Amino acid sequence: QAIADLGDLRGKRVLVRSDLNVPLDGATITDDGRIRASVPTIKALSEAGARVIVCAHLGRPKGSPEDKYSLAPVATRLGELLGREVAFATDTVGESAKAAVEAAGEGDVVLLENLRFNPGETAKSADDRAEFAGQLAGLADAFVSDGFGVVHREQASVFDVARLLPSAVGGLVEAEVGVLRRLTTDPERPYAVVLGGAKVSDKLAVIDNLIQTADRLLIGGGMVFTFLKAQGHEVGKSLLEEDQVDTVKGYLEQAKDRGVEIVLPVDVIAATEFSAEAEHDVVTIDAIPADRMGLDIGPKSSELFADKLADCRTVFWNGPMGAFEMEPYAGGTAALAKALVDITAQGALTVVGGGDSAAAVRQLGFADDQFGHISTGGGASLEYLEGKDLPGLTVLDES
Ligand code: 3PG
Repeated sequence: QAIADLGDLRGKRVLVRSDLNVPLDGATITDDGRIRASVPTIKALSEAGARVIVCAHLGRPKGSPEDKYSLAPVATRLGELLGREVAFATDTVGESAKAAVEAAGEGDVVLLENLRFNPGETAKSADDRAEFAGQLAGLADAFVSDGFGVVHREQASVFDVARLLPSAVGGLVEAEVGVLRRLTTDPERPYAVVLGGAKVSDKLAVIDNLIQTADRLLIGGGMVFTFLKAQGHEVGKSLLEEDQVDTVKGYLEQAKDRGVEIVLPVDVIAATEFSAEAEHDVVTIDAIPADRMGLDIGPKSSELFADKLADCRTVFWNGPMGAFEMEPYAGGTAALAKALVDITAQGALTVVGGGDSAAAVRQLGFADDQFGHISTGGGASLEYLEGKDLPGLTVLDES
């Protein structure tokens, strides 16, 4: 059900699960996209007179407090974006949280400390999550699920709590699912998917599924070297998942049988080591020197990729094309972003999925509104495209 179905929220304590998992450099937030995306739901609840209790995780602490994973900097930024004070509880379900909720009046916003400081949040078995989920639910009268980036996680604040309180789907989750559904249900064609990032093993299931649905699959990033190896190329010191080469060979054959075009780079930037200062040159993929590693797709590949996207009506992109954090290896990711911007201007639906890819396009100077949609979910959007049932969504259907 939607927030409106929760009835009159004035004075009610509403627990909101947001995804505020932002990249930090010390205490400085380097990309606040996820906080900005979370603001409309929090604001709407506050304006409806609810006592809003926001809960979220940051990074992957191991079930106990660690300063570097504190949500304190996020509380400050959230307050700035909301234009009102956010009370920060220094624990999740303890004395500080209870006091903050108690003190909150109509429209006030409280942010709880990192949920993952409690081992019950991420425990594998529902029994081990039950106590923590019960304590979280005990803080509130209703629950709103708005953390799209975590809906693929069967965790206390995403899944179990929705079974304990009257629950509704938040506007961000609704919007994200609405866009991704357009990719899985009869996408306008040609439909291309661009995959990058380091590891092919993270993307196997989605590749398997995309071979059934997409018209073109463009591959870059560290994972491409396993594809190049599968095609018989030598990849030098590049990232390579030797144990996946046969699986990838299978995909290449399947794609051929189904008439799905797999587009791989024709050149790469090969460097002596993983460093911005390393010696580096553009080489064709059949000439990667044994002592070099590919850290970006090359200029001819960028042109080829842009060409293959030019007539597409739907494109999903997850994962950078190279080690874009280092200027010499940012060209491929920037060129790809530019190609997406161009076809968006011509009316194509373009979706950028994942915290990393979203941060990459912003860091490279692109604005969110130059793309059709920038998803806040990385793993979540990929699992959605895989056609998997996502626990954070199915639990809401149940309720
Ligand atoms: C993400 O960064 O994709 C989400 O915040 C989920 O984080 P997790 O992969 O640590 O569960």
